[in-house]
Amino acid sequence: MQVATRYTNVAIALHWIIALGIVINITLAWLWPHMLPDGAVRPAIDTHKSIGITILGLAFMRLLWRFSHRPPPMPTTYQKWETVAAHWAHVLLYVILFAQPLTGWIMDSAYKDAALHPMHYFGTFEFPRIAWIQQLPQPLKEQIHSGFGKAHEYISYVLYALLIAHIGGALKHQLLDKEPEIERMLPG
Ligand code: HEM
Repeated sequence: MQVATRYTNVAIALHWIIALGIVINITLAWLWPHMLPDGAVRPAIDTHKSIGITILGLAFMRLLWRFSHRPPPMPTTYQKWETVAAHWAHVLLYVILFAQPLTGWIMDSAYKDAALHPMHYFGTFEFPRIAWIQQLPQPLKEQIHSGFGKAHEYISYVLYALLIAHIGGALKHQLLDKEPEIERMLPG
């Protein structure tokens, strides 16, 4: 039996679409504190939310695909610790693919002025907030908004560290170990 050396085309497509979404969302979040006039900020935040919700949906698909399709085995030339570190980095990245959009959605649902700023999915239909959170008493909503806002921010710091490790590891295998690491995640 032939051993697979690359991910399936569906896994590859999901990987790069989600990666692009994450890069755009981080870039938007870095840019909006500098956006002037204030009116420019609202479309940037709305796009950030639409991309984030899309990532949540794609993360579900990716997890289901991952459970039903075994990834190609890591090359045997890799050190044991590298294989273990890569495995746990991937697990944590999966957790963040859910945790980051969910904390954002919960924070947004608890926003005191949510009713004044309906969220339109890429400018089309109105995307629902989480109804039971919206119905909570105002002081509790404020606590949820600030608590989950902080969680959203702290998770992004963990995400930055993981992205550096993930991309750095891939480049190390590709450039220093001369293994076709990136080809594993490219169609062809
Ligand atoms: C994978 C998806 C997402 C990523 C990578 C992401 C990333 C980020 C980052 C890096 C920040 C800036 C944090 C800081 O340093 O203060 C941020 C802020 C924010 N995000 Fe997200 N986010 C995602 C999904 C979402 C979703 C789904 C929503 C809402 C539906 C959302 C709503 C917000 C809001 C409202 C802020 C601004 C918080 C504030 O400054 O008051 N995000 N996000």
